Amino acid sequence: MGSTAVAITAFYCTAVAAGLVAVAAVWWSTRAPGRIDVARVVEREKGWFAIVVALLLGLLLGTVFFIPYGRTSTGAQVVKVTGQQFAWIIQPATITANKPVEFRLTSKDVNHAFAVYDDRDVLLFQVQVMPGKEQRYVTTFRRPGVYHVLCLEYCGLDHHAMAADFRVTR
Ligand code: CUA
Repeated sequence: MGSTAVAITAFYCTAVAAGLVAVAAVWWSTRAPGRIDVARVVEREKGWFAIVVALLLGLLLGTVFFIPYGRTSTGAQVVKVTGQQFAWIIQPATITANKPVEFRLTSKDVNHAFAVYDDRDVLLFQVQVMPGKEQRYVTTFRRPGVYHVLCLEYCGLDHHAMAADFRVTR
């Protein structure tokens, strides 16, 4: 099991345990219901609503600036990618490590998904590729080697054959 899988498993087990504790707490608190003070409940719900809104806003502000799409990087190596049934055209197919790369991706026919795996078959990122639109994705490869590309959007009978490689050099 890789470290990511261990982290996901640990997080999942913790979440399940926390969920069980929460269910037990609700069950315990409702064993012998007393009289309900509706006005107090209404006040309390306003408080919870404010907490939920604050949490969602925090989540939004904490993540929205990390969305990797729509960025451009001046001085980046530009790699043009064209998807078509059933192949990838990657130009140039050699990329320099430790220098930003700007992928510019489009499709000649239908939707595809440009998915890049490293030489250990770990998925690094995926970009939706659409006809009539140029998607941009900026990243930096740290390790030299051969990277693999697959299509992750079902696009026809030979979707599974839509594979390619590119090389990252020092
Ligand atoms: Cu292209 Cu699936």
